[in-house]
Amino acid sequence: MPRVLPVDPRAPDPAIVREAARVLAEGGLVALPTETVYGLGALGTDAAAVARVFAAKGRPATHALILHVDGVAMARSLVASWPESADRLAASLWPGPLTLILPRSARVPDAVTGGGATVAVRAPSHPVALAVIRALGAPIAAPSANRYQTVSPTRAEHVVRSLGDAVDLVLDAGPAEHGLESTVVDLAGTTPRVLRPGALDLASLRRVLPDVAWDGPTVVEAGVRASPGTDLRHYSPAGRVVFVQNARDLERALASRGPGEVAFVIARELAPGEGTRGRRLPADPAGYGAALYDALHAADEERASLVIVEDVPEGDAWWAVRDRLRRAGGAGA
Ligand code: TXA
Ligand code: MG
Repeated sequence: MPRVLPVDPRAPDPAIVREAARVLAEGGLVALPTETVYGLGALGTDAAAVARVFAAKGRPATHALILHVDGVAMARSLVASWPESADRLAASLWPGPLTLILPRSARVPDAVTGGGATVAVRAPSHPVALAVIRALGAPIAAPSANRYQTVSPTRAEHVVRSLGDAVDLVLDAGPAEHGLESTVVDLAGTTPRVLRPGALDLASLRRVLPDVAWDGPTVVEAGVRASPGTDLRHYSPAGRVVFVQNARDLERALASRGPGEVAFVIARELAPGEGTRGRRLPADPAGYGAALYDALHAADEERASLVIVEDVPEGDAWWAVRDRLRRAGGAGA
């Protein structure tokens, strides 16, 4: 069991914030709450600490990490150029669930970028994450705090179960607000482009940057220099995932269970069915997104070998939920 310290998400105890910053400054790993999911943090300027993050997650070294900053000044210290689009986005949407990809500066260790020419920066809005970055006075490199290719953590318990003693300290501030990862926008190319749909919705993004490109559900989440297809199985529960459209499909899926096979139903409008394990999630995309990973974790805890998901609507409001569900099913984008 790692050390777990409860912390008030609205008014973090300064002594706990200092302790987290101390562990990070000494090269340790701290799991931190953010408004999206829990992150596995390391001092972003310390290549050895960053290497421990990859080892703890079992993540390939080419999959670059996000540097979490306390605002524009720290972000600018990590990049080689800061375009006007970054200024506009940061001014209206930071701190918040938006990650920007920019050309890196020499100050960023290769371990963070996977050797690539760009770096991901994001200012989280969670008071605990922001306070720890400020206390540290340096960026925190943090991927989601889970083993590679498993479901991201929205609660401290998920972190402990996934990473155990590989993390030195866990700050427990209760369930994450958004429950889905940040939206990633590439500003390093000729046109701004969404690389990963996320907790910041497309409409809010386009209000600030109308010309941002999104290739829709065919986009493959960009690991830096990752070959296409390597990331298709991601955010996955242990069981096989099947999608159903209606009550008839659901009945059929349940009937397809082998002897002793445990099914877990993630429903929206359908009733999960008599005596069936499962959860009914909120009908709106934000509420659904906030509850989805917790439901996938619950399916794993129940040792479900079949996870039946009622399909979600088309349309931009559901972009991040649809993306994560497809990946949970291993079907790719
Ligand atoms: O909400 C979030 O973004 C959470 C919290 C902890 O901040 N973090 C998170 O990190 O989801 P991670 O490592 O699980 O996902 C980071 C994403 C990956 O898809 C990675 O490929 C992409 O950002 N990324 C990081 N650096 C990149 C770069 N230089 N170029 C392109 N994509 C990059
Ligand atoms: Mg992740």
